[in-house]
Amino acid sequence: MNILVTGGAGFIGSHTVIELINAGHQVVVVDNLANSSSKSLQRVAQIVGQEIPFFEVDIRDRQGLSAVMEQYRFDCCIHFAGLKAVGESVQFPWEYYDNNIAGTLVLLDVMRKHGCKNIIFSSSATVYGDPAQIPITEECPKGQCTNPYGQTKSMLEQIMADMQKADPEWNVVLLRYFNPIGAHRSGLIGENPNGIPNNLMPYITQVAVGKREHLNVFGNDYDTPDGTGVRDYIHVVDLASGHVKALQAIEQHCGLAVYNLGTGRGYSVLDVVHAFEDANDLKIPYMIQARRPGDIATCYSDPAKAERELGWKAQFGLLDMCRDSWNWQKNNPSGFED
Ligand code: NAD
Ligand code: UD1
Repeated sequence: MNILVTGGAGFIGSHTVIELINAGHQVVVVDNLANSSSKSLQRVAQIVGQEIPFFEVDIRDRQGLSAVMEQYRFDCCIHFAGLKAVGESVQFPWEYYDNNIAGTLVLLDVMRKHGCKNIIFSSSATVYGDPAQIPITEECPKGQCTNPYGQTKSMLEQIMADMQKADPEWNVVLLRYFNPIGAHRSGLIGENPNGIPNNLMPYITQVAVGKREHLNVFGNDYDTPDGTGVRDYIHVVDLASGHVKALQAIEQHCGLAVYNLGTGRGYSVLDVVHAFEDANDLKIPYMIQARRPGDIATCYSDPAKAERELGWKAQFGLLDMCRDSWNWQKNNPSGFED
């Protein structure tokens, strides 16, 4: 297939571009580099042995997007482009709604005007809010999101579902990611957060590389086996291959389809710390702190639907994720700025 990848220079997008090319697809990337570097695509080219056509375009730029869509005939768009920092979204809600919602509205409109009505969208387990059931199946009702970032995911799901209902020529696959970590085995690409990382694994790797003194563990009084928060960490390469499998749903004219992409296993913060220490023979000093507002105790998926319908199942375990995250960070202590 000819695939437009928005946000393809980012963490999940760059890993997905590799899996798409390995599976024989043709890829064009559009990214405004708001949270990424074009160097990631140079590294991807090094890994796959071919250049990746890239356009530095903002998805809110109707003309820019139209020009790309005129030049290529796309069968499908995999839509990663978006802002994703939870705390920042609380501070700058307008910017988040503008970028994520207005941007996606422009993208969808330009797509349909160019006869491409197939989209795979990066959603998040955050749409389940404080989940009504664990493990979380796709039937679990959506919940209240505590921040504008989560709201954009939830609203965009609704917008695309409504558009698909009104025009059944659309095929929409909503992929609800759990917690992606890890990096490509080569260590050439990985997660490259700006400033102080919000998420657990980038914080741990920055402690390991000496950029931060210790990890702050947010709460040890949750109703979980060791009191710390439990999440479903998934290797980014597994997540990337989930997108390749999701193309089958598009090919089969799925209409609207929703899939959880997780491993189905929950690990606590301290499980991750200890796995990281074991995988890499390092010590991660940590201090217990108060709970982080907005956090929930436990969140992990039931990934059976994606296995049943797409034949997709996560292959990598927590030790692989810890090894590959560290391999990326230690070889690139300042990310792509090295
Ligand atoms: P990322 O920030 O590394 O990648 C997003 C990319 O989109 C970046 O390269 C950024 O420059 C680009 N972008 C942002 N706004 C844009 C715009 N207006 N026009 C063009 N490009 C734009 O993030 P990621 O972790 O790779 O996440 C990819 C997608 O998956 C995002 O939509 C994110 O919300 C979603 N998601 C991520 C996680 C996670 O934990 N990483 C979890 C659930 C969902
Ligand atoms: C967070 C976001 C979620 C988003 C996801 C992916 C919040 C409330 N949720 O999910 O909307 O989709 O990232 O970007 O921000 N932890 C620590 N110390 C740290 C960092 C994290 O103890 O320095 C703990 C957290 O309390 C949590 C676990 O580690 O229990 C995972 O945290 P994180 O990586 O931020 O992911 P989520 O909170 O699941």
